[in-house]
Amino acid sequence: MDVERFRDLLGNEFAFIFNEMNPVVQKLKLEKTAKILDIGTGTGWMAIYLALNKYRVITGEPESDESEYAKQDWLESARKVKVDHMITYTPFNAEDMPFEDSSFDAIFILGTLHHVDDKEAALKECNRILRLNGIVCVFEPNSDALKFIRDNKFPTHPDAVDPRLYIKELPFLSELIELPFYNAYLLRK
Ligand SMILES: C[S@@+](CC[C@H](N)C(=O)[O-])C[C@H]1O[C@@H](n2cnc3c(N)ncnc32)[C@H](O)[C@@H]1O
Repeated sequence: MDVERFRDLLGNEFAFIFNEMNPVVQKLKLEKTAKILDIGTGTGWMAIYLALNKYRVITGEPESDESEYAKQDWLESARKVKVDHMITYTPFNAEDMPFEDSSFDAIFILGTLHHVDDKEAALKECNRILRLNGIVCVFEPNSDALKFIRDNKFPTHPDAVDPRLYIKELPFLSELIELPFYNAYLLRK
């Protein structure tokens, strides 16, 4: 898929995220029928990227989140590229998610884990709702990206986190892929 088709409609930030996510997500070779969860909707870039790749996605963030990171215009963006019908929004908190055990094939967490108060509880919940052989993909900004984000957008942005520090009790095998601006942590169950 050519990202240039979407740059005019969604802007450079989306095109940038698209290019970072693409090698990792393509490598996963998920079935088009895979049940996919995106934790932390924000601007919706992760959900929209997945939907453009013909995956149906459930996405959400806490209803109570009044921070500058939440309640963005993701639906308007999804409509611009005609994938709003592929995305289902439901508010939830990653530390206590309203989903059945073993109900997802893949969970994506882009630029969100560092915002979650109880990271251990969130990853424990991911394990609960993920089926056996499923995968959690956590994308956290590296130091260059963090500097860029703080200099250009959110001066008080929190530090990135390494999810491997919070999964010691969980049955995940982890792999780190270093992208130009993100660290992608693939946690396989
Ligand atoms: C920087 S935004 C994420 C960007 C987004 N993933 C994207 O693709 O554009 C951070 C998100 O984390 C969400 N968040 C913060 N605490 C959370 C929690 N406990 N559970 C779920 N989401 C949370 C915020 O509401 C916000 O949507």
